[in-house]
Amino acid sequence: MPLHRSSASSLIPTTSKGRVVTTSRGAAAGDDETDEPRIRPAGRADLLGVFRIEKAVFAQPWPYAAFEGLLDAPGFLVAEGDPDAGARAAAGGDAIDGAIDAGDVIGYVVGDVTPNHGQDIGHIKDLAVRPDAQGRGLGRRLLRASLSELAAAGASVVKLEVRESNHRAQDLYDDEGFRPARRIPRYYGDGESAFVMRLDLGEWVRERNAGES
Ligand SMILES: CC(C)(COP(=O)(O)OP(=O)(O)OC[C@H]1O[C@@H](n2cnc3c(N)ncnc32)[C@H](O)[C@@H]1OP(=O)(O)O)[C@@H](O)C(=O)NCCC(=O)NCCS
Repeated sequence: MPLHRSSASSLIPTTSKGRVVTTSRGAAAGDDETDEPRIRPAGRADLLGVFRIEKAVFAQPWPYAAFEGLLDAPGFLVAEGDPDAGARAAAGGDAIDGAIDAGDVIGYVVGDVTPNHGQDIGHIKDLAVRPDAQGRGLGRRLLRASLSELAAAGASVVKLEVRESNHRAQDLYDDEGFRPARRIPRYYGDGESAFVMRLDLGEWVRERNAGES
């Protein structure tokens, strides 16, 4: 499926921050703190919420049917907003701006695995956070949760594409250990080029485990 955003290469003005195994925000699959939005597998009932965010954040959104076709993908996860957590955060001054109803999707990630002769390849196909929930660590948590699922599903490497101009996403991917592999000119429908970034998933898992012990 042609992806509408993602990219990388040595052309990325990377700061080579190195891999961050843990962050002060916590993050990653399974470390749901009480006030953190819950991350869980996507279901059919989430698709409208996912599609709403998709249209809000991407100039060339995927069609609804694309998400529907990926419901069984092991790394298709959603972050579910918790209205009570929103209220608690408001008291602490870090509330999400928009209203959150119970079960609202406030972010999602689509990750899948393709069999490849024992060297299965994971693919982060999509990642987005509702605009008023961005910048609070949710994108990183979603990415890590999906990577954990892809590892559990047998992937040994993971690739993704990111738009050449999307430095924000590139910084996140770089931080998690993705490295530029190549550049695909005019990859997107509007003519923008993509960077392909690649992650050694076995190494990522080892570093995560070492960081937790
Ligand atoms: C990219 C995106 C998913 C990140 O989600 P997020 O919840 O806002 O990001 P987080 O708060 O988890 O931040 C993770 C990292 O992203 C980068 N980042 C986040 N906000 C940033 C900003 N305003 N400027 C630069 N980098 C930023 C940083 O590396 C940050 O790590 P740090 O806070 O430890 O420095 C989100 O911004 C988004 O939905 N963007 C629109 C859709 C998109 O571009 N998706 C990626 C397609 S490849």
